[in-house]
Amino acid sequence: MDAQYGDKRIGVYPGSFDPLTNGHLDIIRRASKLFDHLIVAVLVNTSKKNAIFTMEERVALIRKCTDQMPNVEVQMFDGLLVDFVKAHQAVAIVKGLRAVSDYEYELQMAALNKHIDKDVETIFLMADIQNSFLSSSIVKELARHGGDIRGLVPGEIVDDIEAKMLYKG
Ligand code: PNS
Repeated sequence: MDAQYGDKRIGVYPGSFDPLTNGHLDIIRRASKLFDHLIVAVLVNTSKKNAIFTMEERVALIRKCTDQMPNVEVQMFDGLLVDFVKAHQAVAIVKGLRAVSDYEYELQMAALNKHIDKDVETIFLMADIQNSFLSSSIVKELARHGGDIRGLVPGEIVDDIEAKMLYKG
């Protein structure tokens, strides 16, 4: 066992979080109740080339929104998710599912991760119906055109996102 975590049951919630949305935060809150300790892992998704925030910025935004959650930790990692999971001796990966359209991709990822390491389990939480349309891409699109992103992302980071979109144009 990793001495840092003792015999805690650790869950890993991975994603690109560019940026964190209320949908992500809802999953973090709910998953934090299922595990002794939850690690939110900011990872590289190679299929998403147009990141707005750096990995460090994404970590900082998530920390800002989770600092009141004592069993939630945020880390970044540039590598395979299963390696991160094994390094932290986590018992499961947590993913959120919004709609049927998420299922195919997530099934593929879960199966691939299980193929790489048969001990790695993936647990799916159904997104709150209110968040079923919400994604980081939609938030960025809205902010880019001067739309109101309040209510879609945590209040603490609205200004950070708007400032970044102004800067990026
Ligand atoms: O929020 P996203 O973009 O849907 O999250 C996808 C993510 C980052 C979890 C996925 O791309 C990932 O696990 N990246 C790390 C590299 C990896 O393990 N890829 C899958 C096996 S090739």
